[in-house]
Amino acid sequence: MNRPLKVCVFGGDGIGPEVTRAAVRVLRAVCSRESIALDLEEHPFGSQSFRESGVAFPEASRQAASNADAVLCGAVGDPDFDHLPPMERPQRCLLDLRQLLDAWANLRPARMSEGLLDCSPMKAEYVRDLDLLVVRELLGGLYFGKPRERRGESPHQVALDTMVYKEEEIERIVRLGFQLAQGRRKQLCSVDKSNVLECSRLWEAVVARIAPEFPDVQLSHLYVDACATALVTHPAEFDVIVTSNLFGDILSDQSAGILGSLGVLPSASVGGPTALYEPVHGSAPPIAGKNIANPMAAILSAAMLLRHSGGHEDAALAIEQAVDQALAQGLRTADLLPRERRHEAVGTIEFTEAVLAALDVAV
Ligand code: IPM
Ligand code: MG
Repeated sequence: MNRPLKVCVFGGDGIGPEVTRAAVRVLRAVCSRESIALDLEEHPFGSQSFRESGVAFPEASRQAASNADAVLCGAVGDPDFDHLPPMERPQRCLLDLRQLLDAWANLRPARMSEGLLDCSPMKAEYVRDLDLLVVRELLGGLYFGKPRERRGESPHQVALDTMVYKEEEIERIVRLGFQLAQGRRKQLCSVDKSNVLECSRLWEAVVARIAPEFPDVQLSHLYVDACATALVTHPAEFDVIVTSNLFGDILSDQSAGILGSLGVLPSASVGGPTALYEPVHGSAPPIAGKNIANPMAAILSAAMLLRHSGGHEDAALAIEQAVDQALAQGLRTADLLPRERRHEAVGTIEFTEAVLAALDVAV
């Protein structure tokens, strides 16, 4: 066996721990089947950690994340802290983690699976061939720009966020978008708002400068509002979308909605030596601890981890096929069913065990 794949696990808040537990079970099962050595360590992270120790992202957790090959994260966020300004909430640790790992590129694949077709709110003919990848810039733009503040007294306060992009930041994400498109259907759609924003005008100029390096990729441009429409009217025509931090946040949630639920979309955040894998969904506090959350996004994030950080394409595919198989058997968590059919739903654990069974591993 080779050097073990070192994975740091942050369950986090809300449904984070239970969907991460599901993903870890599947990860362990496939690794044992494929003789992949795994060195897995769990650490506190998020609002729960803040409650317990007063720190959302303890130093030991930082060290563990930096020293791992990959971080598998559940979700963070707790409504008890919603009265605080966003940058003072414990869930800010997610942005700190992305920064710590220098994870500047966020890959969010949305692929229709035959077994999911009836879960989409859209007609099957529009979504049957849906297979798109949102490449979201993750360390710049409105999320990190300074100043960010509130000035003055009510009722005359002013709030200020700053959207800022350096040319190098745009260049690296756009180049990655082109490269990823080369490995897929060779179509790249750059999404911006260059009819209004200066950052987007720079974005557009950088795309134009880099495009000649990739003559085999068909490039298109959409303003983000038009992209939101196109995603609903003809989603299957998209291959790779490359866009800024905020637009990517919004468009990836929309892609999940087109598939049927936020609970199905995994993500990989790459750039630095350690990559981060997390479901696109949040901590969903109202359904936490009830065995009803959809573990699919977390399980598929584990597949991405094996593919991108481990180089284990076969193991990643095995997980993806096992998830498809569980869906094809008609198993659905509540989020994938209309209200009148919720009584048919399986729980987090049942869905996970169906995936394990499909992997041909005793549960
Ligand atoms: C996501 C989430 C996060 C983001 C939040 C929780 C900070 O919505 O990963 O898409 O906006 O990046
Ligand atoms: Mg989001």
